[in-house]
Amino acid sequence: MSKKTFHTRIVIAFLVVMSFASLPFSSLGQKASPVAPTRAQVEAVVREAYEKFKNDPGGKNADYIPYLAKVDSKLFGIAIVTTDNQELTMGDIKYSFSIQSISKVFSQALAMEEFGPEVVFQKVGSEPTGRAFNSVFAVADMPTHTGNPYVNAGAIATVSLITAKSAEEKWQRILSFYSRCAGEKLSLIDEVYQSEAATNTGNKALSMLLAKYDRIYADPFESVDVYTKQCSVGVNVAQLARMGATLANNGKNPSTGEQVIKPEDVPYILSTMTMAGLYDGSGGWAWHVGLPAKSGVGGGIVAVMPGKGAIAVFAPPLDEAGNSVKAQKVIEYVAGKLDLNVFSPRSVGLKGE
Ligand code: DON
Repeated sequence: MSKKTFHTRIVIAFLVVMSFASLPFSSLGQKASPVAPTRAQVEAVVREAYEKFKNDPGGKNADYIPYLAKVDSKLFGIAIVTTDNQELTMGDIKYSFSIQSISKVFSQALAMEEFGPEVVFQKVGSEPTGRAFNSVFAVADMPTHTGNPYVNAGAIATVSLITAKSAEEKWQRILSFYSRCAGEKLSLIDEVYQSEAATNTGNKALSMLLAKYDRIYADPFESVDVYTKQCSVGVNVAQLARMGATLANNGKNPSTGEQVIKPEDVPYILSTMTMAGLYDGSGGWAWHVGLPAKSGVGGGIVAVMPGKGAIAVFAPPLDEAGNSVKAQKVIEYVAGKLDLNVFSPRSVGLKGE
């Protein structure tokens, strides 16, 4: 072969390779990645879910806290906040509801900021209880007694761990930490606090039981009081979604850019949410939805889409386990339509037909 022919062949081969490399995947018979749907696609799916479930008659407001029984059962709001700080909201988005048990996620995060995950694991644990969130039997039966940071006993123990010179200082630390996760100043709904503080004998009993097993790390009743305040923090659905998006964004609040939670703590939080976020409904939730989530008896649920964002839904009527019925249905619908299940290989990369 002459030198000239050799060079011509090299150039042709180069051009062929380059033309394939520049072709879109679809021309090679492969689909583009579904990881990032367009805003319009997400909006359409959220709108479908909103219309489909807005008149769902399932569930009943929590009534063991008198204030919650009086909240309008028809309230219904949805918010998505992405890790690149886009926000999409629908329905009753201005209403401030009590964060209730969703607070437990952020107190767990604060305790880990202070002591690291291993200490929190040793002092509180991360085992699903298979019991109601306020179960006395779980405290008596389980080897750890505390269960995990999301059942009331474990949450009260978590609050007791957080250091401060006084109960007031501890409460202010917690409130300020939640506010940094939300990217806005949050505050107590005093009526909720008063209503719950007047009726929380069960939680006081749990704290005394924890004391019997040496699993509470500050004054039991003082810890219950700070815990009751943290449950009475008011959030609207967008603030809640932003708190979730902070977790989705490796602990960095997407709206303020502040690294609120250490990135290395986030997987421990998300794994706890997966195992215990919806209490006795957690197994079914992981099976059907596959997103780390946390519910509160105020009617909120926040689900985290790691690396992508968070969806929060507020609707007061609850199922038997204490989880908002509409919120579960909306999140399941949206997660299904947008392939968000973290256990599904379809949730990232290339999607088949
Ligand atoms: O301690 C309680 O019972 C309430 N402050 C919180 C319970 C709760 O939100 C359970 N979640 N679904």
